[in-house]
Amino acid sequence: MSKKQSIMDIDTVSLDDENSQIIIIDQTLLPYETKTIRLTTQNQIWDAIYTLQVRGAPAIGVTAGFGLYLAAKEIGAHAKNFDDFYPEFVKAKDYLDSSRPTAVNLSWALNMLDKTAQKNRDKTVPEIVEALHREAVRIQEEDIWACHKLGEYGLTLVKPGDGLLTHCNAGKLAATRYGMATAPMYLGQEKGYHFHVYCDETRPVLQGARLTAKELMDSGIDTTVICDNMSSSLMKEGKVQAVFVGCDRVAANGDTANKIGTSVVAIVAKHYGVPMYIMAPTSTIDMNTPDGSKIRIEQRKPEEVTEMWYKKRMAPEGVKVYNPAFDVTDHELITAIVTEYGIARPPYTESLKKIMEKKAEAMKEKE
Ligand code: MRU
Repeated sequence: MSKKQSIMDIDTVSLDDENSQIIIIDQTLLPYETKTIRLTTQNQIWDAIYTLQVRGAPAIGVTAGFGLYLAAKEIGAHAKNFDDFYPEFVKAKDYLDSSRPTAVNLSWALNMLDKTAQKNRDKTVPEIVEALHREAVRIQEEDIWACHKLGEYGLTLVKPGDGLLTHCNAGKLAATRYGMATAPMYLGQEKGYHFHVYCDETRPVLQGARLTAKELMDSGIDTTVICDNMSSSLMKEGKVQAVFVGCDRVAANGDTANKIGTSVVAIVAKHYGVPMYIMAPTSTIDMNTPDGSKIRIEQRKPEEVTEMWYKKRMAPEGVKVYNPAFDVTDHELITAIVTEYGIARPPYTESLKKIMEKKAEAMKEKE
């Protein structure tokens, strides 16, 4: 594959059903090399999620959905009936679920497939496997649709020429297309809005500098990378009219887990009166988690902080390292939570409930 190929021309995650493989863009190689890799075994899929070759809450969910379907296909080749099939299926589900803890999309997608398997328990094993195939594909299609809707709603919150700040990568690389925080940027670009987008580099893994900057530039958007400690200075100069970020899990009260450093941006934005918008497909809303204190935060390897991006280690050997991958932004700091079913505003305990009811109605109508 050509190194010059635009990141926008390739799906972040796709299923090659004929060869029983998942194709992903290997995000650890960006921005230098745009390369797709093929995942065949469950171990490969688990590793790709854990090592961030595929990352971002919705993209993890889609990958896990395809992964569990592929496991089901393999189990289906020898299982005689549902009772034979199901224990192995649950084992595969639990294995994929253990790859990363914070993004709820992972367990959300796996649970959707589990429900599908149970709903079809009286069918033959090939029929169950086919139902799982349809469900995994539907999860990806829903993600594409939801991201587009997020963009439409998000665009109503800004005006042409605005400066927008984003943290981490909640872009097309974190989903299938459009992305979440980037969706209004892409839609605005199509309409000639000429946004100025500032990307926090996002230490320690640099998703902002490596990924968001890459995909926005590939789309022709005016893009500036800043270090994570520069947002206050930028907002003080009046260069930022809105912050758009994604999320890995939104609790029922609106507290939101997202990439480490998001809460810092929210505090700074509040100080300067800049609106803070969370771009949240409903697959990231977890009504079973009452508030942010109950969200499990992933701790990652110290090497991400001390040496991963440096020619030489840049911190003394033996120093203690604190490396949580996410933090929780308190709901009081959030101006609005944008979903594919509308914009939720405080109090979130009520508005998120309404959004989820709207979704349940829409799903019922589709059935
Ligand atoms: O550790 P990562 O790169 O998977 O973290 C990703 C984020 O925090 C994104 O902002 C989040 O998943 C947004 S996508 C709705």
